[in-house]
Amino acid sequence: MSPLDYTAKELDALMDTAADIMADPAKYSHACNGKILATLFYEPSTRTRLSFETAMIRLGGEVIGFHSADSSSATKGETVADTIRVISNFADIAAMRHPKEGAPMVAAEKSAIPIINAGDGGHQHPTQTFTDLMTIRSLKGHLDNLTFGMCGDLKFGRTVHSLINALVRYENVKFVFISPKELTLPSYIRDDVLKSKNIEFREVTRLEDVIGDLDILYMTRVQRERFFNEEDYVRLKDFYILDKKKMALAGKDMLVLHPLPRVNEISTEVDDDPRAVYFKQVKYGMYIRMALILDMLGIRVA
Ligand code: NCD
Repeated sequence: MSPLDYTAKELDALMDTAADIMADPAKYSHACNGKILATLFYEPSTRTRLSFETAMIRLGGEVIGFHSADSSSATKGETVADTIRVISNFADIAAMRHPKEGAPMVAAEKSAIPIINAGDGGHQHPTQTFTDLMTIRSLKGHLDNLTFGMCGDLKFGRTVHSLINALVRYENVKFVFISPKELTLPSYIRDDVLKSKNIEFREVTRLEDVIGDLDILYMTRVQRERFFNEEDYVRLKDFYILDKKKMALAGKDMLVLHPLPRVNEISTEVDDDPRAVYFKQVKYGMYIRMALILDMLGIRVA
């Protein structure tokens, strides 16, 4: 599953369902009775896995799974394709995170049950994108006519790649990409997604110069685990630190999002600023995952 498996219209419907669940959770609390979600996490995660598991439990379903490759048969040499064939016998739906780009897609081809990509290497992270869209739509009221600043590790940050893919489908969206030279967007996003669709974008290195132009600031962590050497990571890890001083240069309605985990890129002094919505974002993430599970299982709640 990729965010582009859903048209912008279908995504809107998914967000409507998520909003309805938020408004009336009791109506949905037995929707998945008797259903089982498998969380197959070959890579560390806290919020994504727990968000999926909580989503299923709040729908009345049950959860099985593993949370590291070490505790699965991958250590014995089992392929993802074989694992999923086996899991298909146990569960009704699965969420998979894997360090290898494309692994959830390979699994989906072999699987008798729906597979949700919960992050594949430096490639994509569709359900984080759903979370981000849901957060922005809920708090801004719309996704069109906005200027998005994306800051930090734009090279390895899969959440950024997925989000750009989804946002270019809305009207009059503009982007400002803020990163060190070494961590700019991969060309498959810059050329194939942005240039080919004639989307307006700028690439800059200084956050201070552009923060005042943004409706949304999407901060990201430098993705240590994807670096080839530690020296480069150490040199780049504190390149951006969003603090009160920089927030003072931003508009009063600008929202700050972050997929989390945060390391140093947002100073904790920003947390109490009403424009900082990264902890609210986590909550929207759970509701949109509830809506997604219902949709992928074909369950309608009247
Ligand atoms: C992100 C991820 O895993 O890509 N985290 C998440 O799922 N919320 C972002 C990150 O790890 O930096």
